[in-house]
Amino acid sequence: KTLQVCFVWLLYFWPFLQFQCLTLLLIYGFRFDYQELLYNSTFCLVPRGRRLGSFRFLEALQAACIPVLLSNGWELPFSEVIDWNKAVIIGDERILLQIPSITRSIDHDKILALRQQTQFLWDAYFSSVEKIVLTTLEIIQDRIYHHRSRNKLMWNSLPGGLYVLPQYSTNAAEFPFYYSMLGKSPHQEFTAVIHVVTPVLSQSQPVVKLLNVVTRSKYCTQIILLWNCDKPLPLKNKWPSTLVPIIFIDGMSKAMNSRFVPYGIIQTDAVLSLDEDTVLSTNEIDFAFTVWKSFPDRIVGYPARSHYWDSSKARWSYTSKWTNEYSMVLTGAAFYHRYYHFLYTHYLPASLHNMVDQMANCEDILMNFLVSAVTQLPPVKVTQKKQYKETMMQQGSKSSRWADPDHFAQRQTCMNSFASWFGFLPLLPSKMRLDPVLFKDQVSILRKKYRDIERL
Ligand SMILES: *[C@@H]1O[C@H](CO)[C@@H](O)[C@H](O)[C@H]1NC(C)=O
Repeated sequence: KTLQVCFVWLLYFWPFLQFQCLTLLLIYGFRFDYQELLYNSTFCLVPRGRRLGSFRFLEALQAACIPVLLSNGWELPFSEVIDWNKAVIIGDERILLQIPSITRSIDHDKILALRQQTQFLWDAYFSSVEKIVLTTLEIIQDRIYHHRSRNKLMWNSLPGGLYVLPQYSTNAAEFPFYYSMLGKSPHQEFTAVIHVVTPVLSQSQPVVKLLNVVTRSKYCTQIILLWNCDKPLPLKNKWPSTLVPIIFIDGMSKAMNSRFVPYGIIQTDAVLSLDEDTVLSTNEIDFAFTVWKSFPDRIVGYPARSHYWDSSKARWSYTSKWTNEYSMVLTGAAFYHRYYHFLYTHYLPASLHNMVDQMANCEDILMNFLVSAVTQLPPVKVTQKKQYKETMMQQGSKSSRWADPDHFAQRQTCMNSFASWFGFLPLLPSKMRLDPVLFKDQVSILRKKYRDIERL
């Protein structure tokens, strides 16, 4: 009722009484819980205030209440890049009485789409002063370097312009986020990056076995051996001859972060990141790659971990306990898009990179934070692999960083430092696990496509 009264007032006495009308809304706000009312509403009127713009606009946006603008001539924030028609209704002050029928004519799907867009825009560009400032700077950068500016699609769809670095590419098809929108599917190939920390002395070492397994995958085009070991590179002829080229990269200077450097040589969309002691079969690699092609914007892989809130210590905790839930997939055996190498290196601050390098730990947690923050989705775990855990356990050898008791404590510290930089904990729990069709079913092994997976 009050709103109707307000409408009438607006209509007849618009030039004189607009402030009284707002006052009335405020009174209304005191009698009822204003915030709750905002969240309950589908449409929120945003009439001009003392100036064209009004604080009500951002309030409504935040509350997923579709702003109905009544402020002719108002230039909306960041309208240079944001397509506001996807999130607001732009009314006309002069035909005020038609507003109710306009809003009623909008169908349910459109309402949902508008509301979702309010949330995306709020979250991506307006949710903090920092976001607003960063967005402003990025828009200025797009103006200056016009030849490599982000396009409208990048600014107006998830994950938003701040996560799409134009230095990487200005072609939307190069980013995993737009594949489905553009009807593109990722390349049928991947580059394996194996992180080597122990000198290779014999052909029976895990890394040599791993090399042989990876090269047998029909999707593998090249293998990068990232040499983070203090011994010099072994001679080329000491390595097994493989079907695909092996490229050595000395990662020494950059230590742990070198795993995620966007090496120019990586031209495939997919990267398979591996630890030297990972035990996998070719079937497992092929299957994980097949799954990744359906989730190209996520981390897809085997070893999963989770996080929880430790209320006794009032902080986030990391756990490797075997449960049905996970929020991280470790990069010791995982596929992800090569763009994340670029983002990891150029988006994250030096403080986090330094922390990872000093501890020689947590780079995998940081990558999970980053990818979840960008996609707002959990990673994807494929087929249960008990053996992975057991191998880890047995490795009491000094070479294994997992055997170090400090290692685990460091990971707790990392979780909390990362969360404070991001301003929130981006990890999301998931219970989804993808197994091959007929996995562990009581049927002949001949009917199964990935035969050796369950034999392991
Ligand atoms: C919001 O909606 C809830 C549930 O429908 C209702 O109980 C509550 O009274 C509403 N609040 C306001 C302020 O309208």
